Amino acid sequence: MKFEEFERGLMKPLDKRTEKDREWNKIWQKVFDHYTLHNLFRVMLKSNLEGLEGVVNLGKEAVVFKAVTRDGKPRAVKVYRVETSNFKRMHDYVKGDPRFQNVPKNKRKLVETWCQKEYKNLLIAKKARAHVPKPHASSGNVLVMDFIGGKFGAPLIKDAEIDDPEQAFWQIAEDMKRMYRNELVHSDLSEFNILYWKKRPWIIDFAQGMLLKHPKAEEFLERDCSNVVKFFRKFGVKATKEELCKFISS
Ligand SMILES: Nc1ncnc2c1ncn2[C@@H]1O[C@H](COP(=O)(O)OP(=O)(O)O)[C@@H](O)[C@H]1O
Ligand SMILES: [Mg+2]
Repeated sequence: MKFEEFERGLMKPLDKRTEKDREWNKIWQKVFDHYTLHNLFRVMLKSNLEGLEGVVNLGKEAVVFKAVTRDGKPRAVKVYRVETSNFKRMHDYVKGDPRFQNVPKNKRKLVETWCQKEYKNLLIAKKARAHVPKPHASSGNVLVMDFIGGKFGAPLIKDAEIDDPEQAFWQIAEDMKRMYRNELVHSDLSEFNILYWKKRPWIIDFAQGMLLKHPKAEEFLERDCSNVVKFFRKFGVKATKEELCKFISS
């Protein structure tokens, strides 16, 4: 849903609001609690943001906004929602990560660790020269990164018209290899976490990303490979999961 649509819903008289408008309204109030506003304010200062332009995506665990810096550069602002996040899943991923010795028992603290983990993983991936949004700042449950897209966010690769699927596949493979060389495995890679922009794939959503030291890293690498191979098979790309895994780790 785009911001204008959401705003129109908010401006409707109370008795004219549809079930959907009311639903969005509730979510909005839940996303912007004092804690989140405080963090938002901090990242806005840190990364020189002028304001939020609109909602790019409203998910169960995170809301992504488009924002713009004072000098006119577009940014994506990802706000993790504490209430609706999956404590158990986050806990299991953070537990095996050598970067985070103590796994927080408090939900808010765990979400902060989760957000910080995405920030750190994006830094590694960017440094490895993979095609990912560059992270700019994080505070608590809020993360600022490069915005991929034009006026609106870029489409997910599953919804995009892919110019040359064989090439796109190997571009993803190359990025996975670059990350692997820097000891990073995405761990949640699929057509749902790859954007397609300027005729090439861009990998996003790195909170689950883990270091090779994590006991499950190889298992997750295989799963990532399997998802990517399966998606591209529909377009006639013939590489197998084993070939992709080998390409990445050799
Ligand atoms: N850097 C970005 N630039 C443009 N759009 C983005 C960016 N990051 C996320 N999005 C949009 O927000 C959606 C959700 O982001 P994602 O990081 O996958 O969070 P989650 O899947 O945990 O809700 C993406 O599918 C994409 O449409
Ligand atoms: Mg995602």
